[in-house]
Amino acid sequence: MEKITINTRGFRSEILVGERWEAVSGLLPEKNTVIITDDNVSQLYGNRFPKVPVFSLAPGEGSKKLGVIEYLAGKLLKAGIDRSGFVLAVGGGVICDVTGFLASVYMRGIRCGYVSSTLLSQVDASTGGKNGVNLGGTKNMLGTIRQPEFVICDPAMLLTLPEQEYLSGLAELIKTAIIGDKELFDLIERSFDKIMLRNSDLLTLLVAKSVRFKGLIVSNDEMETGLRRILNFGHTFGHAVEMQKGVKHGFAVASGMELSTEFSFERRYISVDEKERISKLLKRFKLVEKLDLTDDQMEKLVLHDKKKTGSDIHFVFTRGIGKAIVEKVPVGEVLGFYKRFRDKK
Ligand SMILES: NC(=O)c1ccc[n+]([C@@H]2O[C@H](COP(=O)([O-])OP(=O)(O)OC[C@H]3O[C@@H](n4cnc5c(N)ncnc54)[C@H](O)[C@@H]3O)[C@@H](O)[C@H]2O)c1
Repeated sequence: MEKITINTRGFRSEILVGERWEAVSGLLPEKNTVIITDDNVSQLYGNRFPKVPVFSLAPGEGSKKLGVIEYLAGKLLKAGIDRSGFVLAVGGGVICDVTGFLASVYMRGIRCGYVSSTLLSQVDASTGGKNGVNLGGTKNMLGTIRQPEFVICDPAMLLTLPEQEYLSGLAELIKTAIIGDKELFDLIERSFDKIMLRNSDLLTLLVAKSVRFKGLIVSNDEMETGLRRILNFGHTFGHAVEMQKGVKHGFAVASGMELSTEFSFERRYISVDEKERISKLLKRFKLVEKLDLTDDQMEKLVLHDKKKTGSDIHFVFTRGIGKAIVEKVPVGEVLGFYKRFRDKK
């Protein structure tokens, strides 16, 4: 088991990678605790949950909305949860996002912790304290930054994940490798079979590397005013693909990473060999979507991007595997690249 501590503004968050999820019982206050989960997770693991009130949501992105926060806050009030209360998330990114948001607004803030049950949430969503709900069709428009006291990442929980969910998480892991950890990239490249078999020791190592990297970035830039922006690699195009095609987050980000790598190559930031390595790895795990968004569709979606300020966008480029940079690029240039890319196809 690896314990990774994330320090932000005087707050300590402990990420326990490789810990058995059942150990969560020992981390909870004796009373005033509730669990938020979803119906899939509660069906698989609910009989071993600590004996506290459980509120289970419909699985999936549809539960990430303000109405659900209001519904849950009502449930907490009815259950007698006061300012000393504790909310535990047991689930993937959706449940961690909803729980973090709820914990940060209920009675102006109560304590929270996560048992992170998908690969995507273990390598990304549950570290860093960002949470959010969607506003209509626009993702994560309402949210706060609040660190959970602890996060448990148990590789055994990943054995029950459907294949598409598992692969979606793998895309975020590959993102971490491309932007900040060449060794991690090499390890993923040479461990294809073990990754597909979901080997627990390897997953503990991979998740720990990813959490350590994200933790370092977040500790330095919790509010995303600079360095943290590199975590958005692939996300400008990725969010557009996600919204237009309705595919899982990781698959959309993978397509966005392929495009961003091409854009980096066009600017001579990356060699043809490294570009090919990235593209080959994404394709080997069957992560890349067919890109059939028209130029108009892309324009509309990119204009909605939260990373846009005025007519510029903070675009993340790769400077070679393991290195990333953020540049303010006029939206027109980003769209111009997409048009050239499409014309070449
Ligand atoms: N806050 C952040 O920093 C951050 C970062 C990245 C992504 N996100 C958010 O995370 C969300 C996506 O997360 P996700 O992919 O984990 O989605 P999810 O929470 O919807 O989980 C995916 C599916 O897997 C099921 N599931 C969860 N754990 C399982 C298990 N152990 N075994 C079997 N099934 C299981 C769920 O019921 C669901 O159907 C998106 O809303 C995204 O915006 C947040």
